[in-house]
Amino acid sequence: MVVEAAAASNGNGAGEEVFSKKLVGYDGFQRHNPRSDRFPMHKFHHVEFWCGDATTTSCRQARPPEAPMFGYGLGLTLVAKSDQSTGNHHYASYVMQSGDLVMAFTAPYSTQTDKSGSSPPAAYDQDAAYAFLKKHGMAVRAFGILVDDAAEAYRIATAHGGVGVAPPTTRTDAASGTSLTWSEVQLYGDCVLRFVSGDYEGAFIPGYQPVEDAPQVSYGLQRLDHAVGNVPELIPQVEYMARSLGWHEFAEFTAEDVGTVDSGLNSMVMANNNEMILLPVNEPTHGTKRKSQIQTFLEQNEGPGLQHMALKTDDIVATMRQLRARSAFGGFDFMPRPSPDYYRKLPARIGSLLTAQQYKDVEELGLLVDKDDQGVLLQIFTKPLGDRPTVFFEIIQRLCALEPQAPKSQRGAVPSEVGGCGGFGKGNFSELFKSIEVYETDLGIN
Ligand SMILES: [Fe+2]
Repeated sequence: MVVEAAAASNGNGAGEEVFSKKLVGYDGFQRHNPRSDRFPMHKFHHVEFWCGDATTTSCRQARPPEAPMFGYGLGLTLVAKSDQSTGNHHYASYVMQSGDLVMAFTAPYSTQTDKSGSSPPAAYDQDAAYAFLKKHGMAVRAFGILVDDAAEAYRIATAHGGVGVAPPTTRTDAASGTSLTWSEVQLYGDCVLRFVSGDYEGAFIPGYQPVEDAPQVSYGLQRLDHAVGNVPELIPQVEYMARSLGWHEFAEFTAEDVGTVDSGLNSMVMANNNEMILLPVNEPTHGTKRKSQIQTFLEQNEGPGLQHMALKTDDIVATMRQLRARSAFGGFDFMPRPSPDYYRKLPARIGSLLTAQQYKDVEELGLLVDKDDQGVLLQIFTKPLGDRPTVFFEIIQRLCALEPQAPKSQRGAVPSEVGGCGGFGKGNFSELFKSIEVYETDLGIN
């Protein structure tokens, strides 16, 4: 499949540069980093869910006293809040954290709440929040990314076709005198990319209050590794990201790569210069025996949106022992484990890159294993997080110790913060998508 794309300028004033987006599949794709970002972008800052009830959602049903809130399912600590107890009568918002992984859960208050004396927090619109909930249910509203200058980022992105959602707003924290600027452009559907900058030192963003007496909880999750969106058409979406942000393509997969005959998808992974912000995008393919699971998502989500987030840990065995122990008590459920045959064939595919103990552990915990030329990827997927079969999590560990070009003595010296090493699980795609097909059949939705 080949799709020609349009031309775009490179955004740094150095003249016009033509890029061409084509789907060539995993084997035909040549990885190249043109370092073409239109402005400095560094890493994920946070992710924000909009939901109907922030307390209940962040609790994930069970709330044992030793591990409150979303922390029970994922191992996150409540670190900040903005709600009626802090003078915010517009919405309730709770911020959870483990390492650099920060998740905010936000829900609007009643339309009849007396909001006099309470200025609306930056970029918040209650009607938009209710419309979002009605359409999508609980879903990801925003990805925050750290930039040098959120005002400049907004100006440049919108000058190159980015759809503005929230113009830059700066707030200063009275206590510390530090400030934070944020702005938003559309990413896909009702999900926005939120630029964050400034020297702010307080809890989350100005206006939130720190929660200092919450129990410290962590099961080892370190940061957001990548976040995957589902859209009806892939090429216009990646063009939009390349044009407005300057991002480049990091990897891609076609329906043939995915290897399921019943339903299909095409996928491109888009990345910033340092490849620490990875946003893959999927589109459905049509004409297969079954409806594409991406098409099912688009129907269940009522439009484009965030399909899954990969949460990175440096010890997936320890993390997954914690998560699996909580599945039956209000934690997250996981997709069915691969067949014994998958694990029997694994050594032929992965070889000596895993130890005998690691082979034992991955089978015990039902993990998927894959590799590329830079490293090994260990991954597992949850079932959908809420009522709708839409958004879910991936738990991931990247063993970034391979660098074929480096002398043998230097292998293992590759920093663990190499973005995307180990790939995105091409070798696991068919296992994953077969399990999603079975799951959707069981639900009677596909
Ligand atoms: Fe993923």
